[in-house]
Amino acid sequence: MRTTVLIVAAGSGSRLQAGVPKALVTLGDGRTMLEHCLDSVVAARDAGAVELNAIAVVVPADPDAAASLEAVCQAVAARTAVTVQTVPGGAERADSVRAGLAAVRTLAGTAGGPFGRHALLIHDAARPFVPPAVFDAVVTALGSGTVAVVPAVEVVDTIKSVARAGAELSAEAGAAPEEVTGTLQRTQLRAVQTPQGFDLTSLEAAHRRAEQDAGLSGGAAALTDDAMAMEAAGHRVGVVAGDPLGFKITTQLDLMLANALLASTTLEHH
Ligand code: CTP
Ligand code: MG
Repeated sequence: MRTTVLIVAAGSGSRLQAGVPKALVTLGDGRTMLEHCLDSVVAARDAGAVELNAIAVVVPADPDAAASLEAVCQAVAARTAVTVQTVPGGAERADSVRAGLAAVRTLAGTAGGPFGRHALLIHDAARPFVPPAVFDAVVTALGSGTVAVVPAVEVVDTIKSVARAGAELSAEAGAAPEEVTGTLQRTQLRAVQTPQGFDLTSLEAAHRRAEQDAGLSGGAAALTDDAMAMEAAGHRVGVVAGDPLGFKITTQLDLMLANALLASTTLEHH
């Protein structure tokens, strides 16, 4: 199925505290996180996992950051013969996805694949090392008729809910302990990664609906992944095997892991 990839790279990276937007942070080999991410998509194409139509990259509204990321995109486009288009993002991840969807629709055109279906993969720039097998699993599930597919791994920690939901956990000495309200059964939990795969038309409708739905309290900030919009619209969401290498670079510790991986022989495609 013809597939357009939407990479969200408009976040500031406040938890990484690198002084530049996260997608622009250079890893140990001197290449940016976004370049690694784009290369992982191209590697999936080259492995035959994705019938790649084009890539849209959502970048920060800040003109300097946008120009730097645009240069990264055009360099990759030139050496891989992939169309890569940038589009300015929004305040929350869901806002950035919505900004990107208009560009995706233009890139996808009206032609679509068999039965007019066109696949969309939505992917975090902050996950630079996803192996082709994960792209393959997501696209294969989409091809068999599922309209929403997420890659996931098992959860290693025990996850508890607390009474002060919404508030941050205070690290201050002497802060009052939060109160546990329940423990979720770990065997029933999955930690979800990207790329998440969708039927393009269904995802567009689900995002429009989520935007208008007052029942989804918290607005765009509460929509922490795109499958949530599909769940809210009543679609079944399939889960396929992700990969530990699909981890998200969020903190300095994650960056250290990324650089250790690059310095080792663990990464085949980077
Ligand atoms: N993202 C985006 N637009 C936003 C927020 C996030 O495109 N307004 C993207 C990020 O660029 C990233 C992905 O969504 O690729 C996952 O978000 P996250 O890891 O939270 O990145 P940041 O929001 O940049 O980091 P932080 O939350 O620490 O500020
Ligand atoms: Mg964020």
